[in-house]
Amino acid sequence: MASSTLASADAHASAGDDPGPALAGAREAIRRAALENISSLAKGEADDPRTIPLWFGESDLRPPAFLGEAMTRAIDAGHVFYTRQNGVPELRQALATYLTGLGTTPIAADRITVTAGGMNALMLTLQLVAQVGDNVVVIDPVWPNCGGIAGLVGAEVRSVRMTPTAQGWRLDPAKVAAAMDGRTRAVFFASPGNPTGAMLPAETQAALLELCRARGAWLIADEVYHRLVFGADCAPSILDIAKDEDRLVVINSFSKTWAMTGWRLGWMVHPPSVGPTLAMMVQYTTSGVTTFLQHAALAAVEEGEGFVARVRAYCKEGMGIACDALEGLAKVRLGPRPTAGMYAFFEVEGMTDSRATCLEVLRRTGVGLAPGYFFGPGSEGFLRVCVARSPTVLAEAMSRLETVLG
Ligand SMILES: Cc1ncc(COP(=O)(O)O)c(C=O)c1O
Repeated sequence: MASSTLASADAHASAGDDPGPALAGAREAIRRAALENISSLAKGEADDPRTIPLWFGESDLRPPAFLGEAMTRAIDAGHVFYTRQNGVPELRQALATYLTGLGTTPIAADRITVTAGGMNALMLTLQLVAQVGDNVVVIDPVWPNCGGIAGLVGAEVRSVRMTPTAQGWRLDPAKVAAAMDGRTRAVFFASPGNPTGAMLPAETQAALLELCRARGAWLIADEVYHRLVFGADCAPSILDIAKDEDRLVVINSFSKTWAMTGWRLGWMVHPPSVGPTLAMMVQYTTSGVTTFLQHAALAAVEEGEGFVARVRAYCKEGMGIACDALEGLAKVRLGPRPTAGMYAFFEVEGMTDSRATCLEVLRRTGVGLAPGYFFGPGSEGFLRVCVARSPTVLAEAMSRLETVLG
């Protein structure tokens, strides 16, 4: 297994002390940001045919053909020009209807803004609420990008770690309260979580909402894995608890639910009064999400339920295969099996450098895993595997891991 690119992935922790003359003129928050992320760690080996890439949060299922057909129809119908900044009205309405159908609280279309993926939704949200000198409390273990964006806008990230228990990962809201101060602009959580699959129970979500109300902070809820719950139609949503004008933004995406990662489509649910401001911000960033993709995305929302069920079943099956294997590996400690999401997050006995272990696993087995250190300060002893892969590929990957982790 070729490993030269990875072995020399030397941008590990930071952008480097000597930024070079041009970069020296960039904003300090940008210069300080770590260059390495999950995709850069994978660089090089990703093209090796023997590599089994379980680094990313991405399924190998292709989106259904009717979506491509809907896109072609949208182009033919002339949806190829600029559109409304908050999104194509039909899609906003369809998403409002979709969310209303899943929850217990009606969601109106003026609360929806369509974005270029969940990432763009999160960037807009943090630009809206935080600036240099502020802080954002991030509940972890968590996918690193929220913290990464907070860093780019110049805000400090305050980590509050969930605790692994025999019943799964649990959050103590008192720890969140203790981490907040007068400069806390937002609390961020993802439920179901990446990498843990943990779902915050409604009571915990309500406690976070109360805390944010009391402190005047925003609550940012990432519900990108909302539909990938094994044994239910969706996870508990903060939208069922909150009021329209709460300082709440819910991030969502087409990437996981409909396996549309490359389409770069997502949305945010926000207070109706914030819509015009978001429209202005969209104008100055993307100037709107690709018009014909938004028209095609309507088909996912309105006709995609069968496929959502398929993605969910696929993740559930993958989780079973991965967990069966992980539980049999001598060096691995896996807590209770996740009941949502697309990852297994497991501890490796004696591991003190998750990045080095991932590189070793990759070199010796060709299996790409994500290192725990990406997911928060307490996660160095962990690795993450994406289970949204074909059963055959996943079984092969898990058997290869035996040589290093068995
Ligand atoms: C928790 C979480 N939120 C948001 C995203 C962003 O998804 P996208 O930008 O593809 O919509 C991801 C992607 O892995 C994620 O895991």
